[in-house]
Amino acid sequence: MTSPDHAGEPLIARRELACGIDRVGMQMSNDLASLPRPPLLVGVLKGSTLFLADLMRSMQIEVEIDFISISAYSSTGSSSGVVRIVKDLEVDIAGRDVVIVEDIVDTGLTLNYLRRSLGERGPRSLRAATLLDKVARRIVPVEVEYSAFEVPDVFVVGYGLDFQGLYRNVPEILAVKDIAKLANDPMLLVRSLFVETSA
Ligand code: PRP
Repeated sequence: MTSPDHAGEPLIARRELACGIDRVGMQMSNDLASLPRPPLLVGVLKGSTLFLADLMRSMQIEVEIDFISISAYSSTGSSSGVVRIVKDLEVDIAGRDVVIVEDIVDTGLTLNYLRRSLGERGPRSLRAATLLDKVARRIVPVEVEYSAFEVPDVFVVGYGLDFQGLYRNVPEILAVKDIAKLANDPMLLVRSLFVETSA
């Protein structure tokens, strides 16, 4: 990886990410072994995709996966906790052991909604796993059974997490030091992270 622009700095390196994910994968494998059916990992699009891919590969038991996509209503421009499902699960989760897989738990509003909503569908058990837990930003208390890393209250991108759709494929987690600067120039970090693709 090339050195990032001064507007962003490495927070969790690739090797550290791999170790944290392996640890969670091992923990989940131990807890979810010997179930009547393989657990269903539910990836919350889009941020969780890289984490889910590595997490399931680190697990030592059979798993199934499905995806859900939700979108926050933002008529007021602030986090109201009111969200809607944009793409629902394909699998009926009644009687299943389900783990919601998130890239980050921030205010907790999204996970809180998902736990309530999926909980109403009669799963045998419901758990949550997150790559990053930004505890300092929590608005609603929400249970997170598996967490790979607790992160400080800084804006983070990479490894699935985006800024305006960019930076999801950065293989490590970067802390954005100057979010105003990035908002002003969303491509700011691209120039130091990737080979330029346009003239
Ligand atoms: C992010 C993340 C969680 C949610 C966490 O999703 O993937 O779903 O925000 O925030 P909260 O705890 O404050 O509710 P985002 O809306 O950025 O969508 P994305 O995963 O497609 O990037």
